[in-house]
Amino acid sequence: MHPVERDDRDVAGIVVAAGSGERLGANLPKAMTEVDGRPLWQWAVQALRDGGCGHIVVVAPPQAEWLDAIGAADPDAAVVPGGPARQDSVRLGLDALADEAPTYVLVHDAARAMTPADVVRRVIESLRGGADVVTPAVRVADTLRQVVDDGSRLLDRAGLRAVQTPQGARFEVLTRAHADAHASGTSATDDVTLCERLGYQVTLVDGDERAFKITTPVDLALARALTRA
Ligand code: CTP
Ligand code: MG
Repeated sequence: MHPVERDDRDVAGIVVAAGSGERLGANLPKAMTEVDGRPLWQWAVQALRDGGCGHIVVVAPPQAEWLDAIGAADPDAAVVPGGPARQDSVRLGLDALADEAPTYVLVHDAARAMTPADVVRRVIESLRGGADVVTPAVRVADTLRQVVDDGSRLLDRAGLRAVQTPQGARFEVLTRAHADAHASGTSATDDVTLCERLGYQVTLVDGDERAFKITTPVDLALARALTRA
């Protein structure tokens, strides 16, 4: 076997593409919305493949129509239905990798469709270098204030980072983190935080401003403008 292929197979990628996209307000699930003729989920899958993920799971909107559409468009990916919250969708994606049992797994938002493959490469490189749990992160451009009882106070922006995806971990660690969270009924807005609760340190690598999350119509317009540029 070609050594690069063998290497790739120990890194799996999960694209979470379920959810309705309420804030985007389109008449179809957000991940199915197209930028330059390709749905968001497909952009996200491409970045994971280009960055070095050898096995791909797409967690899709659970209706048969979308499961079928994604399966037909990407016969090499495993397609599984998502759950009510993002965290459920990630757990269902991890379940689909139980037999494969890769060494590492990356979890990527379909909504971060414009993420360059270099971000994926940096996450994988950090994991291969020995990090247990990794997230890309970027500096914050806005001045931030925290709302407190008697008004608000300035936060030190220099010490803050906004986290992006794909987030990566050893497969065994992320699987355990999600199983524990599910069993105890706890939730977090991202995957590395669930791992942190098990005592793992979160390693930051450089993110990229193009890895912004497409949440609102303005974000979608930006993504479309980037592909024309
Ligand atoms: N996601 C998912 N399963 C869910 C909810 C979200 O797989 N039950 C995915 C989305 O497809 C997206 C990522 O998680 O790629 C981040 O979620 P978000 O941007 O909040 O997407 P939605 O929940 O669909 O959007 P909204 O909150 O505006 O309804
Ligand atoms: Mg949401």
